[in-house]
Amino acid sequence: MHAGTLIVGASQAGVQLAVSLRDLGEQGPITLIGDEKHAPYQRPPLSKSFLGGDVGVEQLWLRSPEYLADQAISVITGALVETVELAGSGPGGVARTAGGGEVHFDRLALTVGARPRRLAVPGADLDGVTYLRTADDAAKLRQMQRDAQSVVVVGGGFIGLEAAAVARAQGKAVTVVEAADRLIGRAVAPVVSDFYHAAHTRRGVTVRLDTSVSALTGRKCQVESVELSDGSAIPADLVIVGIGVEPRTELADQLGLTCDGGIVVDSHARTSNPGVVAAGDCTVQPNPVTGRGMVRLESVQNAIGQAKTAAATLAGRVEPSTAVPWFWSDQFDLKLQIARLSPGHDDFVVRGNPEQESFSVLCYRDGALLAVDAVNAAADYMAVRKALAQGSTILAEDARNPGVALRDRIGPPTVSA
Ligand code: APR
Repeated sequence: MHAGTLIVGASQAGVQLAVSLRDLGEQGPITLIGDEKHAPYQRPPLSKSFLGGDVGVEQLWLRSPEYLADQAISVITGALVETVELAGSGPGGVARTAGGGEVHFDRLALTVGARPRRLAVPGADLDGVTYLRTADDAAKLRQMQRDAQSVVVVGGGFIGLEAAAVARAQGKAVTVVEAADRLIGRAVAPVVSDFYHAAHTRRGVTVRLDTSVSALTGRKCQVESVELSDGSAIPADLVIVGIGVEPRTELADQLGLTCDGGIVVDSHARTSNPGVVAAGDCTVQPNPVTGRGMVRLESVQNAIGQAKTAAATLAGRVEPSTAVPWFWSDQFDLKLQIARLSPGHDDFVVRGNPEQESFSVLCYRDGALLAVDAVNAAADYMAVRKALAQGSTILAEDARNPGVALRDRIGPPTVSA
């Protein structure tokens, strides 16, 4: 009897891999196993609509349990895989869970994601200090936020700023403490960082750049104050930490797979053991945009694209992932849409008016269109994404003309999307 394909990690990449494998005609058993107790759900709304509203986890399901059952995809929830062993060099082997369960497999896929980086300062384990990655984290935070008065957010990236926006919209006093000299520095151009600083400040959020947390203090286990690197302190009854994520590489390490800031895969989602594939936030892959160097992409779109590639690889097809990475963030009434990433640009064009909270920033390197960051500017975002997907460009001189619609200035395609 066939043990089938085991996919460890039941989130965006894992579900996509399972579904795509079935779509490609896989007849054998497919088992998806995850440590969270919920059926697989979408993570992005957790720091947005879920946190600010009354949404249930079932409204975030990636696929309904009926659909997955219908596809003969077995989903095991609430089971942390602690060990995996290959029989010889694989691809078959056995996984063992913390609860003592065993799952045998003929083929293995790792879609294990990432976990929040922990704040390593005295007092970080006080009550009232929270992280935001899972539905349980978000449900707990939603509850804690009801009674909180003063919220300190550590980290001014996507998670921190989205959580800050929700808390501020609920009338809390909110301070964002960011160690770097600008917000969302990993993902957007400096002009967009400056805009978010101003936009949050206008809405009553205090932003402290170039500042880190030296300690958290409190009484009876409850956080009461955040001490900062400049010697000052901010009162806080709730501290939300969003200082980035770390890929979960422990199972890959057990298998002796090459890891370097994530599980190293090639453009076909193969790990250093070609019988084992991996996809999503846990992986480091050849940069799909520049073709140079390795990159770890934290995005839904990458998880989906790479999982499709991994499924194709398991099905014996060769389909490297070539999609244009894109990202988004909702903060207050501001919709940020990003196509590709701007770091490395040497020229940029701002269209529209940041003061009016509707603008886009087209970034160029060596004259070539590199990326767009768009705030409440969906038409510009869509035009650039289309241009990038077909390997064409929009000239900076055209973009500088506010009178032209970018979609009318997309050059001829050079590659298929
Ligand atoms: N104190 C203050 N700020 C810090 C510290 C620290 N000790 N350490 C890191 N930071 C800052 C970084 O400079 C960065 O601006 O925290 C921010 C973290 O931002 P991200 O790397 O974008 O991570 P995060 O916001 O936690 O998001 C994690 O969830 O929404 C997804 O796409 C997002 O995949 C990402 C993940």
